[in-house]
Amino acid sequence: MDKSIYQLKNDNGLIVEFISQGGKITSAKVPSGNDYVDVVIGYDTIDEILSGDDYFSAMCGRVANRIADGKFTLEGKDYQLAINNGPNALHGGPEGFHAKFWEVEQLNKSSYKLSTTSPDGEENYPGELKVEMVYSLNNDNEFTIDISATTDKTTIVNLTSHPYFNLKGCGNGNILDHLLEINADTMTPTNENQIPTGEFRNLDGTAMDFRSAKAIKEAIESDDEQVKLCGGIDHNWVINKNENACALRLTEPESGRTLELYTTQPGVQVYTAIHFDGSEAGKGKKPLEQFGGIAIEAQNYPDAINHPNFPSPVLKPGETYKEQITYKFGF
Ligand code: BGC
Repeated sequence: MDKSIYQLKNDNGLIVEFISQGGKITSAKVPSGNDYVDVVIGYDTIDEILSGDDYFSAMCGRVANRIADGKFTLEGKDYQLAINNGPNALHGGPEGFHAKFWEVEQLNKSSYKLSTTSPDGEENYPGELKVEMVYSLNNDNEFTIDISATTDKTTIVNLTSHPYFNLKGCGNGNILDHLLEINADTMTPTNENQIPTGEFRNLDGTAMDFRSAKAIKEAIESDDEQVKLCGGIDHNWVINKNENACALRLTEPESGRTLELYTTQPGVQVYTAIHFDGSEAGKGKKPLEQFGGIAIEAQNYPDAINHPNFPSPVLKPGETYKEQITYKFGF
């Protein structure tokens, strides 16, 4: 079992750390005066990480997010996945990519390659899936994840990284005052089981419209029917297609710290840590309170395999799944 903590550091003093299990990004230490602030939600020690929340900063797959009733049909064959979230399959199942110890290889001073092979039939997904991710940090304060995957049988794939951020620092209160901006004209509303209805909802005049930056609490404290369904924000936005544009920007108004998302992915699931309840301690033994972090997960839309009007998650032999997720830190 590889319990190492791997580190990338750039010339500006920004440090990003990760581990082999799930490729979990265990910290992003942002310089602040003569010190730094760790803006990633997590724990102090490797043992706490390994026994802690499964998804903190993990690579989720084979299929991140929900699949309704864990069911899908591919090339005429029905598949049943493990049910691990209400009536649904979530984040690749109990032995998903978050739980795997990935092989880690340093490529150069600023990047590492993480790889894993998921055998044919693992978690009931067809095909042997080979996945590689390159984690790199540059001097523009961009931490980039380049993901690629290939299969030997037709299968489905949706890979995302699941870090929770709090730009005040892990354990320093909640993110309700953070300003959020999302470059999206529509989102995919869900039913009571958090499965998309298939609609692309125009955000004009709704609390979920983040095209201009506004405090997250404005949506959470609204009476928006989607917010009421899950007690906060746990939704997928359809990123407007304009190459290289910033998909999402988070700003902590007091410190001015920012986090920007750039991605090739079609959607972003934003999850405001609704299930945190203060009973668990994170870094510095500080309790992780409700809304204590915001997960920013660039990915395909939830349950895409069961919605022909969503981007297809199907990957065939000979094709390469290729996506990029960049988190850019401003400080
Ligand atoms: C989901 C949440 C879920 C969380 C688990 C998010 O991606 O959208 O509903 O509770 O992952 O960590």
